[in-house]
Amino acid sequence: ANQLGSKKERTLAMVKPDAVSKLGDILEMLHAANLTVTKAKMTKLTWSQAADFYKEHQSKPFYSNLVQFMSSGPVVAMELMGDEAIVAWRRLLGPTDSAVARREAQHSVRACFGTDGVQNAGHGSDSIAAAAREVEFFFPSTGSHGPANTAQYTEC
Ligand code: PPS
Repeated sequence: ANQLGSKKERTLAMVKPDAVSKLGDILEMLHAANLTVTKAKMTKLTWSQAADFYKEHQSKPFYSNLVQFMSSGPVVAMELMGDEAIVAWRRLLGPTDSAVARREAQHSVRACFGTDGVQNAGHGSDSIAAAAREVEFFFPSTGSHGPANTAQYTEC
């Protein structure tokens, strides 16, 4: 903890396929919230990469739907740093269901850019352990480079 009693943390933020076109707006919201982007990668996850990322949910009825959506188009993964970054980013995301976010957290990422509980614009690690695993998933400290930069580019 620093002199003010706050803790510098890192977390993994992911902009989901439905909100990649809103990345600029989301970066402005991160800046306003004093969260720093320390690593970033745009990538298109394979089905098995998305299945691995979300394996803690594999027993849930929505698992295959979630994995299908998360591998349906490019995502942007970011390592964020800041005071209590884990909870700060989840607060900025708002409630999981975008409709609830529009009622209860009007200025959140999900209220602004999400559709429902599936197409909900973003993901955030929910604990220090999850943040460590999820940052390592996208930005491995040793060996491989993690998910490849396989997003599709079009010429202007
Ligand atoms: S749980 O059961 O409370 O842990 O689930 P929840 O926190 O609500 O959601 C976990 C993640 O699953 C996504 N989700 C879904 N995806 C597809 N289809 C359905 N029906 C569905 N319901 C929930 C939800 O957006 C959460 O994604 P992340 O990326 O973790 O925020």
